[in-house]
Amino acid sequence: MESLQTILHRIEHEDRPDPALLAQLLRIENREELDLIYARAYDVKRREVSALAYFRGLIEVSNVCAKDCLYCGIRRSGNVSRYTMSNDEVIACARFAYDNGYGSIVLQSGERRDPAFVELIEDMVREINDMTGDSLGITLSAGEQDSSTYRRWLEAGARRYLLRIETSNRELYARLHPADHDYDERLRCLRELKDIGYQVGTGVMIGLPFQTTEDLARDILFFRDIDVDMIGMGPYLYHHDTPLGREATPSIDAGGGLLDMSLMMIALSRIILKDVNIASTTALQALHSQGRELGLRAGANVVMPNLTPVRYRRDYLLYDSKPCVDEDAGKSRDCLARRIGAIGEKIGWNVAGDPLHALRRMNGLTPLRN
Ligand code: 5AD
Repeated sequence: MESLQTILHRIEHEDRPDPALLAQLLRIENREELDLIYARAYDVKRREVSALAYFRGLIEVSNVCAKDCLYCGIRRSGNVSRYTMSNDEVIACARFAYDNGYGSIVLQSGERRDPAFVELIEDMVREINDMTGDSLGITLSAGEQDSSTYRRWLEAGARRYLLRIETSNRELYARLHPADHDYDERLRCLRELKDIGYQVGTGVMIGLPFQTTEDLARDILFFRDIDVDMIGMGPYLYHHDTPLGREATPSIDAGGGLLDMSLMMIALSRIILKDVNIASTTALQALHSQGRELGLRAGANVVMPNLTPVRYRRDYLLYDSKPCVDEDAGKSRDCLARRIGAIGEKIGWNVAGDPLHALRRMNGLTPLRN
């Protein structure tokens, strides 16, 4: 039997690791072995992208959504009261991020493709850039759009775009979405975003019903194959008022198993993709009070404190156990900074924190792989 160290060395240096081997690693339950893998990923992070943790202030602009994903609490047929923040409210949140040294923000929204929405986001991006002299990184996460919309938003000054593939297994994708949601359309969007010139992020949900460790292993290779700059992924968490929440039990029990599987996904993604940005997501914190810190220790380098005004938070519950529903932005900033300091990480204040992978890619340098 090869030692774990030898296996890790191999997946770090091979061009395209064997998915069966990755799946085997994802099934590890032994505490010492898990910790060894997280420590290895942490070393790769420090070596390849530094030990800085970047803050992305998350602004949940609107929960109005044209999509009907079977797992999501703000799906079109969901029973929530709908809101769209005003321009001024969004600008005030961005101002908070800027004044507090957050390097960047994420404007996230339910998916809408109508002209009024396209213009709303465009205006918000322009105004934020005017206010900050283009010095606050702006990431958009507003679903599948036409290439003309993606271009308009890029021209307005957005630099990054997050669009999760949710799962790279197209049969599983089809089980999680209504028939008119198209895996190939999502792929088209991801490719187009990159061609147009965005720094592109994607991600998956971990522990979905019907999902296997082989699927997750192939998700990591998918990130590698489409050459993403950023990864944001987290555990699938049940929402009581969704078809998936009602009908299917998770394939992996919530609790210890799901937390470690999520941390392993971060760790293996870091070891294989090396110089990308990886978020330690809010959903991780839903599983463990220190979930986000554990994510940073396992190779993530981005945290996304929520800046959405507290009065809207209850209407943006993608899943039941979403943390920080009542925590206002000022409080969560200090609390998070303290907690991150306590695990020996430094925060990248006042810098946009572009993924090194994207800078290398865009400057025609060879992205770091092996
Ligand atoms: N559990 C975990 N993540 C979810 N998302 C949506 N619903 C859930 C859920 N029930 C994630 C999706 C989406 C992102 C905005 O939130 O991956 O892309």
